[in-house]
Amino acid sequence: MGIIVGNWKMNGNKNFASEMIRRLNGIDSENTIVICPPSPLLYMFNEFKYSVGAQDCFYQASGAFTGENSPILLKEMGCEYVIIGHSERRSLFLESDDLIYKKWEAAVSCGLIPIVCIGECASERKIWKDVLCTQLERYIGKNFCKTIFAYEPVWSIGTGIIPTVKDIEEVSAFIKYVLGSSSEYSILYGGSVNARNVSQILACNNIDGVLVGGASLKAEEFVNIIKNCR
Ligand code: PGA
Repeated sequence: MGIIVGNWKMNGNKNFASEMIRRLNGIDSENTIVICPPSPLLYMFNEFKYSVGAQDCFYQASGAFTGENSPILLKEMGCEYVIIGHSERRSLFLESDDLIYKKWEAAVSCGLIPIVCIGECASERKIWKDVLCTQLERYIGKNFCKTIFAYEPVWSIGTGIIPTVKDIEEVSAFIKYVLGSSSEYSILYGGSVNARNVSQILACNNIDGVLVGGASLKAEEFVNIIKNCR
């Protein structure tokens, strides 16, 4: 049993969303399943049997911030979760750890469950501990309010390359070491998760679920990921 988050990124359309909702509504699973579609499709998820999340939010509730999404409004639209600090936000939109932390505070204060993404890029593989420490330091000693931390090594996203079980366990143990062993947060693994590798990943110590990108866009594959999460 685990948490399975599907991040559609900027993919999908109305037809795709209605087909995925129909497929997923047709399966029974005790896993926590969260779909994060592009925001314009959120309204279609009213009849969705599982949970919905946003892919990002702003840190203010309202105001003159053209193009941004209010966390309160996302909640009103039915979101229970929000992804924050995805590596694409960090690299393409230059989001800093400070900004990401402010978004975390805003999400928590309006009752959204934040999924905070962390992870080193290819050039940082030797210094992954330093990278994770910097990305996590603002959260140390805070009230996690069910926060989910998603470890996503950037070199694994969309590449088909995943770390070994030993490496994932080393990282998840390190995250626990940095944040403490409170039961108030969960840890996901993300990066090239598919129906074949998911059960091995979920069997890792301290891993509570997976964040799935590309494979969440293929109905059959995503359904098999859910089925293989036992
Ligand atoms: P991927 O993406 O599953 O396609 O590697 C994961 C992510 O970016 O969250």
